[in-house]
Amino acid sequence: MNDTVIKTIGLIGAGHIGGQIARLAVSNNYNVVISNSRGPATLSALVAELGPRARAATPADAAKAGDLVVVTVPLKNYRTVPVEPLAGKIVIDTYNYYPERDGHIAELDKESTTTSELLQAHLPTSKVVKAFNHIYAAALTTDGQAAGTKNRRALVVAGNDQGAKATVTRLLDEFGFDTVDAGLLKEGWRIQRDTPGYGPRRTAEELRRDLAAAKRYADH
Ligand SMILES: NC(=O)c1ccc[n+]([C@@H]2O[C@H](COP(=O)([O-])OP(=O)(O)OC[C@H]3O[C@@H](n4cnc5c(N)ncnc54)[C@H](OP(=O)(O)O)[C@@H]3O)[C@@H](O)[C@H]2O)c1
Repeated sequence: MNDTVIKTIGLIGAGHIGGQIARLAVSNNYNVVISNSRGPATLSALVAELGPRARAATPADAAKAGDLVVVTVPLKNYRTVPVEPLAGKIVIDTYNYYPERDGHIAELDKESTTTSELLQAHLPTSKVVKAFNHIYAAALTTDGQAAGTKNRRALVVAGNDQGAKATVTRLLDEFGFDTVDAGLLKEGWRIQRDTPGYGPRRTAEELRRDLAAAKRYADH
């Protein structure tokens, strides 16, 4: 059972994915507090577009203000995510690992951990939920459909806290998507780059098949 009431969504990162999640959030009547690395003044155009439900802040202030916070910065910067203001909160992680962009991370190369488990270790008391990592940013505002629509697109969630996953599942439903639960954070590799479900439009049934068919790099 999870009774977290979400009124304000904090965003750490306001690029392709962060901007799109902010658009979905305001169009579903959430307040958003967005942040980036260069400072709130650089987000004035996006705040103006988003309207009165949006404001820009520092990452620490966005983390503090959010009832739920989305971390959507390049993975290589995960250690800069503020820890204390996220304590106890649901944190959605959208990370993907691209060594050419993020630099090599030995545990990920060895497949002994996952991107979300790295963030969970950095945020030990937060409830990290992996979501949004396998949909192109642009599709977030074009592919959503009302609950119950036949062949509705589905997105994966993974997480160690069932209540947090239930909250994120409700949010995704409001944003227009069905959800497939991949299990614990350690199962998140099943939807990382180079797996069948990474990128294309999939229904829940198709996505469940994709998760089951995913192979470790070592088994390719
Ligand atoms: N693009 C996609 O279609 C897509 C889809 C699914 C998942 N993802 C994943 O989602 C994450 C974000 O991707 P993206 O495409 O949205 O990246 P992006 O367009 O490059 O945006 C990154 C955002 O993070 C901010 N940022 C960077 N370092 C930061 C820090 N240390 N503290 C606070 N903010 C920081 C950037 O701000 P500044 O510009 O001020 O540095 C920018 O607003 C990545 O892990 C990516 O793999 C992307």
